[in-house]
Amino acid sequence: MSSTGRYNRAIMLTIEGYSVKSKLKFCVLVGASLMTAPLFADHMTDEAIADRLKPAGQVCVQGKDCDRPTPVVEVAAAAPAGPRDGKTVVETKCGMCHTAGVAGAPKLNDAGDWAPRIAKGIDTLYKHAIEGFGAAMPAKGMCMDCSDDELKAAVDHMVEGAK
Ligand code: HEC
Repeated sequence: MSSTGRYNRAIMLTIEGYSVKSKLKFCVLVGASLMTAPLFADHMTDEAIADRLKPAGQVCVQGKDCDRPTPVVEVAAAAPAGPRDGKTVVETKCGMCHTAGVAGAPKLNDAGDWAPRIAKGIDTLYKHAIEGFGAAMPAKGMCMDCSDDELKAAVDHMVEGAK
């Protein structure tokens, strides 16, 4: 064996020794992390996991039925920007009785039903719409969030339709 060969072997041994040493080190590291992993896992209680998942769970895809407060956009759309016109009030609030003539309510667009009412004068009709009238016409026509002006507009619309 030449001196160069011996020298090379020495290097090889050194390298081998080093790699064995680093392999050991690696094993120790893996072993240590395997042993400590359950410790970390212990911290992940159901509560902690739920807490960590929360931000993701709170993401609501638009159009999906999510269990959270109504988006601001929809709230804005639901709240009327200004006063409702007579047609809208009649259709959404008064129609439930006045369309079919429930309990003797003068029917919408029925001139015969409305003629004797119109004869009382528009101010009387306004008053009766706001305060209620007879046994079955409730105050404000049950539109509790209607302003007097909205109710008057509704009466105007009813009267116009029945002429
Ligand atoms: C719960 C049923 C009901 C609803 C809702 C209702 N009305 Fe009436 N309304 C009646 C009935 C019944 C009469 C007839 C009362 C009578 O002549 O004794 C009547 C009569 C009227 C009259 C005629 C009053 C008069 O002096 O002859 C007006 C005007 C009127 N309603 C407006 C409205 C308006 C406006 C709305 C909606 C904002 C409305 N009503 C909603 C049942 C209803």
